[in-house]
Parts: sequence; C-alpha cells; structure tokens
Amino acid sequence: MTILKKVLGAGLVVTLAASAAYAGKERIAFPADYRTKMQNYLSLDRTQNDDQVIRLFATEETLKAAKSGAELPNGTVLVAEIYKAKKDKDGKVIVSSLGRRIRDKLAAIAVMQKGEGWGAKFPEELRNGDWDFAIFSPAGERLVKKDLNSCRACHAPLKDTQHLFSLEHMQ
Ligand code: HEC
Repeated sequence: MTILKKVLGAGLVVTLAASAAYAGKERIAFPADYRTKMQNYLSLDRTQNDDQVIRLFATEETLKAAKSGAELPNGTVLVAEIYKAKKDKDGKVIVSSLGRRIRDKLAAIAVMQKGEGWGAKFPEELRNGDWDFAIFSPAGERLVKKDLNSCRACHAPLKDTQHLFSLEHMQ
C-alpha cells in the first residue's frame, strides 16, 4: 500500500480500498458517473425536510420504462442529490422571490438500486420490493453511520408506486 501511495497517489489507493468493500456486504456502489449518464428529472424543496433541497436523477432508459408504466427492472439506479437550503444570519431558511428555497452546499448523495432478490432479507415493514438504499458524501464516500433502515421504513409503504415518491414525475 505504501508503494502504491507513493507511485500512484492517495486518490487511487482510496478507490481500490473502496471497491474491495463493495465486494463484501455493500451491494450499492457509488454511481460516480451519474452527472453525465443520467438526467435531472425533478428538483424541488424537500417535502419532508424543511431545510433541504433535492435533485433527482435517472437514466433515459429508466425514464422510458417508467413512462411505459413498466415495473423498473433489476439494475435500475436512482440518485438523489441532497442540498442544504441557504439560511439567513439568524439560521432561518431563505425563501426566494419564487417562493422556493435556494440551494446551498451539496450535503449528501442518496441512492436507490434494485437487484434480484435484494428484498428477501428484510421484514415487511422495511421491505421495498427488491430496492435497497445507500448514502454517500459529495465526494462519494459511503456514510456508514447513516441508518439505512430509516430510508427503508419511509419508502416501504409506497407499494402502489414501486416504493418511489417521484414515479409520476418520471412519466
Ligand atoms: C421520512 C421519509 C424519508 C426518508 C427517511 C428517506 N426518504 Fe428518500 N424520499 C422521500 C421523499 C418524500 C422523496 C421525494 C423527494 C422529497 O420530497 O424529498 C424521496 C426520494 C428519494 C429518492 C428518489 C426516488 C423516489 O423515491 O422518488 C431516492 C433515491 C431516495 N429518496 C433515497 C433515500 C435514501 C438513500 C434514504 C436514506 C438515507 C432516504 N431516501 C430516506 C422520503 C424519505
């Protein structure tokens, strides 16, 4: 590792260490190329968090499948950029002349991905079909302290919309 670090730089060492972790229990890798491979199909003030803004991304194929009314296939990846909303000096969220929050720093990148049989290990209240969840820092590091069961529990009841809040916006 020391030699690699010297020759190739710290960045690559970090990358190698991270992909070794994915081979283990982590099923969802950071979708590093989402900005070029996916479309931003919706941006809005978060509906259940009053000081955040969210931008949602999916591939063209995913949006096409959603439009056709199909069940999204295994392998589908959805990305949510979560931003802090700008605040004034008293810590109050600023509202623009359009009545919207204004994006401040990118805080995290939330990901949903679907894989064959991925839901099998979850009890009903945490089961989202075969979707699972992951969350990363803006630099793509896994935020291991985040409780993914809170993601699972909030999305699980949405059985009529494939466990997605924004399905209608893909159509
Ligand atoms: C309290 C409920 C709640 C929790 C907890 C939650 N979400 Fe969501 N999620 C939402 C809502 C509502 C939306 C629609 C956009 C919005 O208003 O924020 C959404 C949208 C998404 C989307 C876009 C696809 C869709 O369903 O529309 C992804 C990806 C996502 N969330 C991932 C996650 C991840 C990963 C976690 C956990 C780290 C998480 N969510 C936790 C409520 C929740």
